[in-house]
Amino acid sequence: MGPEDLEKVLRLLPLRDARQEILVGLDTPDDAAVFMLDEETALVHTLDFFTPIVDDPFLFGQIAAANALSDIYAMGGTPLSAMNIVCFPCSLGMDVLARILEGGLSKVRESGAVLLGGHTVDDDEPKYGLAVTGRVHPERVMTSKGAEPGDLLVLTKPLGTGVLATALKGDFLSEADMKEAVTGMAGLNAAASQAAVLAGAHACTDVTGFGLMGHLLNMLTGHGPGCEVYTSQLPVYPHAREMAGMGMIPAGAHKNRDFLAGKVDISPEVDGIDRDLLFDPQTSGGLLIALPPQGLGAFTEQLGGTEGWTCIGRFTESVSSIIRVVP
Ligand code: CO
Ligand code: CO
Ligand code: CO
Repeated sequence: MGPEDLEKVLRLLPLRDARQEILVGLDTPDDAAVFMLDEETALVHTLDFFTPIVDDPFLFGQIAAANALSDIYAMGGTPLSAMNIVCFPCSLGMDVLARILEGGLSKVRESGAVLLGGHTVDDDEPKYGLAVTGRVHPERVMTSKGAEPGDLLVLTKPLGTGVLATALKGDFLSEADMKEAVTGMAGLNAAASQAAVLAGAHACTDVTGFGLMGHLLNMLTGHGPGCEVYTSQLPVYPHAREMAGMGMIPAGAHKNRDFLAGKVDISPEVDGIDRDLLFDPQTSGGLLIALPPQGLGAFTEQLGGTEGWTCIGRFTESVSSIIRVVP
């Protein structure tokens, strides 16, 4: 669902539960909910599921699971347990479903969590994902808010999965052409999350359906700081620029762009393809981290070099919290 529609629905619900244990609830646009058990322990709850974005069932399972686990990592948490969420047409064959679940299970195990169960619904279109519970120390929760002027904006996976999935559906690309993106989407944000926590990140979220710009806007408060993004630094998966140039832009990108009109100031020098990628909805995207410059050394050391992450901008003094995009 696009950001505009979601906002409309949530506005209709009486969502004001003022329990002290709720550290992160419905009143902030965060990736997962955080519920405190005691002074040492809080639970992190999230769920995510979607329709296949690649044809290979095992890889789809891996990507969907990595995507669901990502919201635990975005909050600085460690996954504990997971439950399968399955919608599936029986006509497709149980061996296909078994491969999807096998892919998901491999990622749950890699995360160190255990799979405890799940629920299946007969449905025309397959969908798969996980509900995940993690743990975090109540004082070490990372949220999307807290960036300060001068912080570096770090992104830990390339962009372009929405464009590539659209091209794959239209048969302009094969799954083999998408190899890097598939591997990237199936990758866990575990190491990036741990590095962010240890480096003292001020804020963190992950880039998914609302695109880079939508999730970056969630990091801003409306009353400072602002953020500057450099498109020359944007990491992009192979073939994504080429496919965006051919017009393989998913509908979600247009929704994201419309929703953010007036909140993102894009320099006229930024080229059209970069503009599209800024709003491209991502599946299992990277973490977006507000990193204080003094944490850069620790962050680099944790992740072992500069591979797999890029500094794409910096937070700035600004009372209006606008995002400025320059080449
Ligand atoms: Co998220
Ligand atoms: Co999510
Ligand atoms: Co049930």
